[in-house]
Amino acid sequence: DSFLGKKQLLAGKKALVTAGPTYERIDPVRFIGNFSTGKMGIAIAEELAANGAEVTLVLGPSHYSATHKNITTIHVESARQMYDACMAHFDGAEISILAAAVADYRPEEVAPQKIKKQSDTLEVKFTKNPDILASLGAIKKENQLLVGFALETNNEMSNALKKLQNKNADMIVLNSLQDEGAGFGHDTNKITILDRSGSHVTLPLQSKKDAAGAIIKYILETQHVPEN
Ligand code: CTP
Ligand code: CA
Repeated sequence: DSFLGKKQLLAGKKALVTAGPTYERIDPVRFIGNFSTGKMGIAIAEELAANGAEVTLVLGPSHYSATHKNITTIHVESARQMYDACMAHFDGAEISILAAAVADYRPEEVAPQKIKKQSDTLEVKFTKNPDILASLGAIKKENQLLVGFALETNNEMSNALKKLQNKNADMIVLNSLQDEGAGFGHDTNKITILDRSGSHVTLPLQSKKDAAGAIIKYILETQHVPEN
């Protein structure tokens, strides 16, 4: 619908999107990951491209992929690879939307050989991964709009507001897991959008494609999309 339906309101704009889980290696045959499918972030990349933007999609291990010709996908595995790819492509992006479910920790050491089954318990020591959203928030310029996601199970609004402030984001999309059929592995999402003006809007349960449309619409209607 790029030529007929949608006005190319983001023509000439560059966007950066993260999507999917990260895999953190334990040994040559094992990793620790999460249930993110990448669908939400891919839908956001498609929506940005449908509005005319030139999109770089940094995608963790996912069975899904983007199809729009204006989307360039960079495939990564770990949080640190995702961080490196984002750092390399953040410059010049007027809009960055970080929808990936990044592992907060990785195994401190990756065993060089397959860990053999021995004792009844196994301990793996974890170390913190870089926070990509906070890192981009720390270096973002006036002409860059930065959007994060938040996944919460309790004190949703206050935790999401803290993320907005602590990571210097302009908007946070809060994912509500309280509804059946929302979130990881589902085709639908229930989201609340918060921004720096202090306002927030809660949207009904809807497809991830429609949620992506609502997020981009919110940006176009309420946020200043800067010139570069
Ligand atoms: N995020 C990121 N890099 C990380 C962790 C999170 O860029 N290492 C981003 C996510 O892509 C999302 C936002 O930060 O846009 C919030 O992620 P979330 O997991 O909800 O928040 P955390 O800050 O990791 O806090 P916690 O998991 O303790 O709630
Ligand atoms: Ca986290």
